Amino acid sequence: MKVLSDLSQWQDLRRGLPSELGFVPTMGALHEGHLSLLRRSATENKISVLSIYVNPTQFNDPKDLQNYPDTLQQDLAAAEQAGVDFVLMPKYEQLYADGFRYQVTETQFSEKLCGRNRPGHFTGVLTVVMKLLNIVRPQRAYFGKKDYQQYLLVRDMVDAFFMPVDIVGCDTVREVDGLAMSSRNLNLETSARKQAARFYEIIRAPLSDAEIRCQLNDAGFQVDYVESCHGRRFAAIVTRGKNSGQTVRLIDNVAI
Ligand code: PAF
Repeated sequence: MKVLSDLSQWQDLRRGLPSELGFVPTMGALHEGHLSLLRRSATENKISVLSIYVNPTQFNDPKDLQNYPDTLQQDLAAAEQAGVDFVLMPKYEQLYADGFRYQVTETQFSEKLCGRNRPGHFTGVLTVVMKLLNIVRPQRAYFGKKDYQQYLLVRDMVDAFFMPVDIVGCDTVREVDGLAMSSRNLNLETSARKQAARFYEIIRAPLSDAEIRCQLNDAGFQVDYVESCHGRRFAAIVTRGKNSGQTVRLIDNVAI
């Protein structure tokens, strides 16, 4: 496995690689959910590429960016085990040489759900994903359905801009108690982590969104949203982080 941070070096290398290339973009702090995407990418493609880049343009809360977990050495070992051939770790100066003057904005669905209270979040996501797809030039790119809104927005962006890549949505991987795997789970305070299992249990119940919201409140969560659309129920809650005063935002979605 080769680790590269220089994009020109990668672009030179890319010219000699086969077109059947799979790509998994991440912000690191890899968990079993990421590893399932990486294993699938390695199985379905000749070459498999992972990017690790904590993208500042998608964080509207500087504290969230600061607290984003960093487990690089473990990530690299796990990536190698999962069959990754190349890891790209670009630097801001190269990736955003334009100073973020150019942005990819979706004007409707990105304003809903996670976009409502996180202005600019999906513009940051779509912009970095388009840059990474253009740099890596994969045949297939893998996205987890835990971030279902992100998956739909990326899939539709690729269609809207006629980008030659298949966006593959992969099922959410869960902890034994049902909590969707997320890098942010590492930041949960011990009792909040135990309580977080109730999130998935509650949103799966055959109740209205309003009733689910009440149940989440009763379970002690601060509710950001509970909304059903696209055949799914989406929810986001805020709970306690392990540092004093820190909060952790968790999202999940289920088919209805
Ligand atoms: O899902 C993520 O980890 C990020 O939003 C992504 C797709 C890597 C873009 O920074």
